[in-house]
Amino acid sequence: MDLKSLQKNWDKFGEMDPLWSILTMPDKKGNKWQIEEFFATGMQEINIMMNFIKSLDRAVQFRRALDFGCGIGRLSQSLAHYFEEVHGIDIAPSMIRLARKYNRYSDKCIYHLNEKDNLSVFSNNSFDFIYSNITLHHMEPKYIKKYLREFVRVLEYKGLLVFHLLGEKPSEKKSEFSIVHPAIKLFAYFKEKIKNLSTKKEQVMLEEPTMEAYGIRQEKVIEFLNILGGKILFSIESNYQSINEVFGKFDEWGYIEQVFSSDPEPEWKGYWYIVTKS
Ligand SMILES: C[S@@+](CC[C@H](N)C(=O)[O-])C[C@H]1O[C@@H](n2cnc3c(N)ncnc32)[C@H](O)[C@@H]1O
Repeated sequence: MDLKSLQKNWDKFGEMDPLWSILTMPDKKGNKWQIEEFFATGMQEINIMMNFIKSLDRAVQFRRALDFGCGIGRLSQSLAHYFEEVHGIDIAPSMIRLARKYNRYSDKCIYHLNEKDNLSVFSNNSFDFIYSNITLHHMEPKYIKKYLREFVRVLEYKGLLVFHLLGEKPSEKKSEFSIVHPAIKLFAYFKEKIKNLSTKKEQVMLEEPTMEAYGIRQEKVIEFLNILGGKILFSIESNYQSINEVFGKFDEWGYIEQVFSSDPEPEWKGYWYIVTKS
């Protein structure tokens, strides 16, 4: 799926059921997330991540942070507790609209709509911390690589880049591949709900948005980051045991477990990458 289609799909998700399209627990479909409960998951995630970062014995500066694929700001709002300035960037106008609506930090937290496959809106070496979760695996590997290149470019020397990406299935030989995200099957619900509607706008709603998932094998990601000049500090398989060892209290991230346990391919692996630039 090219970037234009990707944008169209995410924009529609943002119009129809933004919170559930971000955290796709089955019992939350149909706009059933409570907004406070939803943002609390972001606070929990960022607290754990910041505890981990602080334990690394690295002189991380808490000036400027970037949240790539920020959605409605679940993570960037929490990052604003820790950083002087936070930038959230997203491809979907509907998501950015909501992120601005729920922004509690005024111009300390700035949201950008970005329709490009680059981050030209930001200058070189300008972020102390870059974070991206449950975003990169939704785009084709050619775009993932473009954004990884940009992450390293805009990362400050000695800054930290932390992202999650799906990797290989052990049965899969190819280094890059895709599936239709299991969440999309649940979207049939909306089709049923609006099938009798007839205005043009309503007809457009009938076209189901698609959520794809892609992976790149771990060793290929590491090889690519090395070529870009990134220095990999950790690359951790996100099965719960190993993530527990590194991030501390990963079992508190019950929602991540739920998201991935709905995967029809249970052997699909994900990885966290923690990268710096020297
Ligand atoms: C599953 S949501 C995750 C949102 C947020 N990271 C969170 O955890 O709350 C994925 C987000 O990535 C955005 N996205 C997808 N492709 C993108 C791209 N190429 N550039 C920026 N944002 C993108 C979508 O619009 C959507 O808001």
